[in-house]
Amino acid sequence: MTPGLFVSFEGPEGAGKSTQLARLAARLAEAGVPHVVTREPGGTPLGTRIREVLLDPLLNIDPLPEFLLYSASRAQLVGNVICPALARGEAVLCDRYADSSLAYQGAGRGLDAAFLAALTREVTGGLVPDLTVLLDLDPALGLARAASRGQPDRLERADLGFHGRVRAGFLALAAQAPQRFLVLDATRDPGALADAIWQAVRDRLSRSPADRSSPHLSGN
Ligand SMILES: Nc1ncnc2c1ncn2[C@@H]1O[C@H](COP(=O)(O)OP(=O)(O)OP(=O)(O)O)[C@@H](O)[C@H]1O
Ligand SMILES: [Mg+2]
Repeated sequence: MTPGLFVSFEGPEGAGKSTQLARLAARLAEAGVPHVVTREPGGTPLGTRIREVLLDPLLNIDPLPEFLLYSASRAQLVGNVICPALARGEAVLCDRYADSSLAYQGAGRGLDAAFLAALTREVTGGLVPDLTVLLDLDPALGLARAASRGQPDRLERADLGFHGRVRAGFLALAAQAPQRFLVLDATRDPGALADAIWQAVRDRLSRSPADRSSPHLSGN
């Protein structure tokens, strides 16, 4: 059992994960809550190198090696960044985490869900977020939002059918773990979304670590 609060942000491309993570970080800073902001893939020197490979639009990466690359980045991030921060009693805000692999490489690419879940448990030591904010959005809308930023990366170039399966995959994960997930309609105003997220975070911060969610180390 680790005392900190672990919050992940999930959802399709352009849903507003980074926007909402920054807003939550600002509110935590105002409230004087120590926190660490990180992201997947990335967050460590190794993860940053892996991120460049994964987002390279010129590379063809098959589904299994794609999953293993995300997993390698995740293992390094959990061991070097997330667990140490939680052990210090800090909040950790992570832009994507294991649910993204289950949605993208599982529902999206068709890899076996039980295999992905089992390997993810090994890779993370069973570390599960206390709260997962799922920003749900029609993938066509999200890709249009992301496109306004410039050249699409390797995943943004995948077809809409793929992105539709990813969205359904995220919603199915949320239905399996309703206490952990806060599912929000990402077409709402950013301020209203930030308020809803802050309310859920405050609620968990006010509980003792043991009661915040399913304990960090569970199969959930
Ligand atoms: N609630 C919202 N309503 C309308 N536009 C939004 C909203 N939230 C974010 N945006 C805009 O959508 C775009 C994508 O937002 P953001 O980068 O936060 O999404 P993301 O989920 O982090 O994307 P990616 O998956 O590409 O990292 C930005 O231009 C942002 O200003
Ligand atoms: Mg982002």
